Amino acid sequence: MPSPRPPYRVAIIGTGGIAHAHAEALTELSERARLVAVADVDPTRAAEFADRFSVPQHFDDPQALLESGDLDLVHICTPPQTHAPLASMVMQAGVTALVEKPTALSLREMDQLATVQEQTGSKVLTVFQHRYGAAAVRLRRLARSGALGRPLVATCETLWYRPDAYFEVPWRGRWDVEGGGPTMGHGIHQFDLMLSVLGPWSQITALADRQTRPTDTEDVSIAAVRFDNGALATVVNSLLSPRETSRLRFDFEHATVELEHLYGYREEHWRFTPAPGHEELSDLWTNGDEPDITSGHRLQIEAVFDAWEAGEEPGVCLLDARRTLEFAAATYASAFRGVRIAAGELTDDDPFAESMDGGAVPWEPVKEALV
Ligand SMILES: NC(=O)c1ccc[n+]([C@@H]2O[C@H](COP(=O)([O-])OP(=O)(O)OC[C@H]3O[C@@H](n4cnc5c(N)ncnc54)[C@H](O)[C@@H]3O)[C@@H](O)[C@H]2O)c1
Repeated sequence: MPSPRPPYRVAIIGTGGIAHAHAEALTELSERARLVAVADVDPTRAAEFADRFSVPQHFDDPQALLESGDLDLVHICTPPQTHAPLASMVMQAGVTALVEKPTALSLREMDQLATVQEQTGSKVLTVFQHRYGAAAVRLRRLARSGALGRPLVATCETLWYRPDAYFEVPWRGRWDVEGGGPTMGHGIHQFDLMLSVLGPWSQITALADRQTRPTDTEDVSIAAVRFDNGALATVVNSLLSPRETSRLRFDFEHATVELEHLYGYREEHWRFTPAPGHEELSDLWTNGDEPDITSGHRLQIEAVFDAWEAGEEPGVCLLDARRTLEFAAATYASAFRGVRIAAGELTDDDPFAESMDGGAVPWEPVKEALV
């Protein structure tokens, strides 16, 4: 299928919280793209959003939005259990879907999306905006070039705080709507960034627990990971941590690269420390002329347009997003089965490929019946 041409015609499905970040990014990119339609099952919300961002058309039905005119890109900003069905609908309309994380609730849904991709020739992309900050792009380039030596050790910590009240929203904290707790919903950004730097993982040993929050899902998980390239990493995903932080650290043979931020980073949040005898590597870490923009939605949306214009495949593609989702599934499978899980082990007939809880959660649910 040929790449779309600018100015791109963009629509948003779901006009709640995060849709505002998408619309603001599109406003900043107005020379390349036009937000031409929005849809939300709550018509008042759709109308107010359209008014706020001067969007010419609004709908209460995503299908009506898709039938309203030629579109190049549809952003899906709805709760997670709707992502796979809506992304399929968008692809069947011949349009690229840019889906908020998590792409889908299960590996099985991811594989169904892959089938729709093949059938329609359209693509589903996942929002993992932290891959697109200038320093992350530079780190991937340096890591792949071999300049930093072999990656040996990494730590990845999403230590966030969500009080009980946060879970009063009915869809929060439920396996059937969110697919999981901090592993699927919060830490996924950090470990996706880690995976984008370190490449394929091979084994995971994990623990997950619900310590105190009124949720069906875990409120903390911890994993020990081995990568194909031999690197070892630890990953912590917590909603129980009053002093919040998001931290990543990579120890390569010739340098340590660290990131500490909360919900988005700039250059000042990174630190580069060369190993003794490798001081010249610091020159490779300088920012040059790149604008220092926070790792938000704008950078990823811009990267989609750049890829189209260069005739390249935009990211984050389904294969990469599946690797990240498989990481989450393996974390749950290892924690709830009490065994180590290898990449590829959760085949289609595995309960943990069907749903992230694998029907094996060791604690009692507390949430009421489905929203
Ligand atoms: N990338 C990030 O940093 C980031 C940050 C926050 C949230 N998110 C993700 O964004 C998604 C949405 O989160 P939110 O906090 O904006 O939720 P929200 O509840 O604030 O908004 C969701 C909106 O979708 C609408 N909706 C629900 N089902 C729909 C359907 N079938 N068709 C059309 N509209 C529908 C709802 O009426 C609501 O207005 C989630 O997947 C969440 O994980 C991502």
